[in-house]
Formats: sequence, C-alpha cells, structure tokens
Amino acid sequence: MSGPALYPSLQDVPVVISGGASGIGEAMVRQFRAQGARVGFVDIQDARGRALAEEVGARFIACDITDIAAYQAAIAGFAEAHGDALVLINNAAHDERHDWSAVTPEDWDGRMATNLKHGFFAMQAVAPGMIRAGRGSIINMGSIRG
Ligand SMILES: NC(=O)c1ccc[n+]([C@@H]2O[C@H](COP(=O)([O-])OP(=O)(O)OC[C@H]3O[C@@H](n4cnc5c(N)ncnc54)[C@H](O)[C@@H]3O)[C@@H](O)[C@H]2O)c1
Repeated sequence: MSGPALYPSLQDVPVVISGGASGIGEAMVRQFRAQGARVGFVDIQDARGRALAEEVGARFIACDITDIAAYQAAIAGFAEAHGDALVLINNAAHDERHDWSAVTPEDWDGRMATNLKHGFFAMQAVAPGMIRAGRGSIINMGSIRG
C-alpha cells in the first residue's frame, strides 16, 4: 500500500494560515486538512476562500490582513471554534515587482503592511496560547525579494 504520508501528531491540531484561498496557502490548507488538522484560514478572496473551506471542511474568514484588528479578531474566532492555534503559517503576501526609482513612501508602507507587518501581529495573537500549551510552530513565509 502506498499513498501520502500521514502524520498522526497533526490530527485535530488547530492551524491558522493567512492567504489560504489560493497558491501555496491553498495547498497548505488542503494538506493540513488531509492530516486531520483543524484549519482556519483568512484571505481577501472571499468566494474562493468560502468554496475551498466548504470543500475541505476548514473554517474561513474573509479578512484583509492589513487590517490588524480584524485579523486578530479572526484568529480569536478560530481559537473559539478550534482551540488555541498550535501552528501559525504567515503566508499571505503580494509579491509585486516595482521600479525602485518610482517607489513612494506610501508604496513602501503598503508593501510592508501586506508582506511583513501582519505576520508579527498574528504571532502576537497566537503566542499566549502556545505558551500555555508549552508548544507550537510558527512558520514565516517570505520572498528573497523582500
Ligand atoms: N511562489 C513562489 O515562487 C514563492 C517564492 C518565494 C516565496 N514565496 C512566498 O510564499 C508565500 C505564498 O506565495 P504564493 O506564490 O502562493 O502567493 P500568491 O500571491 O499566489 O498567494 C498569496 C495569497 O495571499 C492572499 N492575500 C494577498 N493579499 C492579502 C491581504 N491583504 N489580505 C489577505 N490575504 C491576502 C491572496 O489572495 C492569495 O490567496 C508568500 O509569502 C510568498 O512571498 C513564494
């Protein structure tokens, strides 16, 4: 018998993923669900996120991760439903290419908000639960472009 590897230690583990509606985030939503983890994910792509959540049995909250209060509230909502997150994957990003000579201070702040800032505040939201549990994993995705 062969098939995908199963990791029993992931069964029922609460996992939070940002940017889970498409791309690498979607693959992670699917794979963690296949391991029996309790997956909560956010994305700005509402329809796509809802369809994926229904298909795989995950929880989805439509959320722009640059809205830190809304994102931390979504993480609290996942914790209420699934228990405190023991895995956080900071995956959401928008890896746009820019002409360096045309970048404005507003562009800079926008890129930081979309690609970096949310990851810190997601960690701030999940860390107390991980400290209580005495374990947890935080995975920060990023591009060498950053
Ligand atoms: N694809 C690659 O080759 C590659 C290489 C190096 C690093 N990475 C990193 O891996 C991660 C995922 O990459 P990807 O290629 O799947 O990216 P992607 O652009 O395909 O997917 C990003 C996801 O984040 C969501 N998102 C974007 N802005 C958002 C916002 N403001 N609020 C909520 N959700 C938002 C998008 O809707 C999308 O579902 C990123 O952190 C990226 O930097 C990717």
